[in-house]
Amino acid sequence: MTDPVDLDAWKALSAHHDEVKDVSLRELFAADDSRFDTFQLTAAGLFLDFSKNHITTRTHELLVSLAEACDVPARFERMFTGDIVNPTEHRPALHTALRNRSGQPVMVDGQDVMSDVRAVLTRLRTFSERVRDGSWTGFTGKPITDIVNIGIGGSDLGPLMAVEALAPFAHDRLKLHFVSNVDGSHIHSALSKVDPETTMFIVASKTFTTQETLTNAHSARSWFLDSHASRADISKHFVALSTNAEAVGEFGIDTRNMFGFWDWVGGRYSLWSAIGLPIILSIGMDRFEQFLQGAHDMDMHARTAPLKENMPVTLALLTVWYNNFWQAYSHLIAPYDQYLHRFPAYLQQLTMESNGKSVHVDGSPVQAATGPVVWGEPGTNGQHAYFQLLHQGTHLIPADFIMALESLNPIGIHQELLMANCFAQSEALMMGKNRDELAKEMRAAGASDEEIERLSGHRTFAGNRPSNTLLVQQMTPHALGALIALYEHKVFVEAAIWDINPFDQWGVELGKQLAKSIHAEIAEAATVKTHDASTNGLINRALKFKNLIA
Ligand code: F6P
Repeated sequence: MTDPVDLDAWKALSAHHDEVKDVSLRELFAADDSRFDTFQLTAAGLFLDFSKNHITTRTHELLVSLAEACDVPARFERMFTGDIVNPTEHRPALHTALRNRSGQPVMVDGQDVMSDVRAVLTRLRTFSERVRDGSWTGFTGKPITDIVNIGIGGSDLGPLMAVEALAPFAHDRLKLHFVSNVDGSHIHSALSKVDPETTMFIVASKTFTTQETLTNAHSARSWFLDSHASRADISKHFVALSTNAEAVGEFGIDTRNMFGFWDWVGGRYSLWSAIGLPIILSIGMDRFEQFLQGAHDMDMHARTAPLKENMPVTLALLTVWYNNFWQAYSHLIAPYDQYLHRFPAYLQQLTMESNGKSVHVDGSPVQAATGPVVWGEPGTNGQHAYFQLLHQGTHLIPADFIMALESLNPIGIHQELLMANCFAQSEALMMGKNRDELAKEMRAAGASDEEIERLSGHRTFAGNRPSNTLLVQQMTPHALGALIALYEHKVFVEAAIWDINPFDQWGVELGKQLAKSIHAEIAEAATVKTHDASTNGLINRALKFKNLIA
């Protein structure tokens, strides 16, 4: 393969960067009245303003040429049609089939997977309706009131984020709890809030081998059996979401209480599958189908819109532009929506587990930087915490602002203030405040020339910080589905440009292996000499602390 840095399109962007890097965003806006109209897109109910970026129409053309040179449309087609786009695990990546509402088949190994997808959705509907309407009862005949989802990574972050994001649509009896951390405090805190007679545990694990999840699930089962429940009652209180029926059976969950999915669903892309059961229980199957529809609408856009008008392609190209040509290796996600408070954490797994790679699809080392660090917190809270660094720090950090125009809890002027803060931050980041503006402002407030001089370095803002703003009318299930799919496709396009595999995650394996062997050593409780001096020292210190060695 050709490394992207060797492509003519890449070299043209490099030369173009030298030409435009000193032109400020203020200058770009001053020179073009129609910039907001030129650099905006609408797709699947989402509106994107990308005018506050260091781009001209020429930059946009060159970025689109890069996407063409990297075969983005053909790569999209390969993914959508079930080709092996994850060669290190020899799998397709067909999360798009899980939300395929077109009625068209999706073939894997000569079989249409859609009938299996629909069959699981039908079972999920029947099951969730029984739990929601109270006809599914616990071992003492009471309706379920609490659902505890036990899972980690993709089996936790997606469902948790979506349940929180769609809280206004939640069932009024069912309370959802999520346990992921192997730290016993996490399961302890969930169990301290629930009653075994009315609690349902969802053990969510694609592989059903994940140490944290199985440890938490065993502890939950012991807690359940320590109440006056019997083994036969487990089937009323434990369900599994997995691809591994054998391990589910071995754990003791009746496989009739298992909702399956397939190895062509990546963990971090799995909230559209049975892994979405907590979402379904919370908002109901009809709304979950609207959520799937939102994602499907974005899929159709990603697959058919020309590259220049394609929203995920545009966001991905902007990330490549900053990451590879401006050396901006960090990207802020700032949702101006309290219910999206777990969205940045969810996107961290989606983007960093997908694109934190150093080799191309063929295994050769990459020459250019790949996935940036993604982080964030809801605005306006971030404004009173880390925004200082964005405004006046030395790093260039592109940001995505996400805002729902209509509140689901309209109270007084809250929404107007939220909106004002969102728009103010992107304006402040871009425009900054120069010395003349500061002097005028301080003089009007009665400051002397000396004071203005003394404080001007501290109180001026260089501005010129880029951002995107994404707007939706209301954060409905449809809008959330479209938003998540937008970022999934953005991540895919970035990977296509860097020619890396976004669907494997070998980088998490080494730590898992070492934790296993260190756990065996801790359990053996003898002085350890098998590691480096620091690791030996830490293990031995812990054993001494527990009085297990002298
Ligand atoms: O360790 C990383 C990972 O494999 C993620 O990719 C995955 O989402 C998570 O662990 C949980 O895996 P599982 O659903 O198989 O328990």
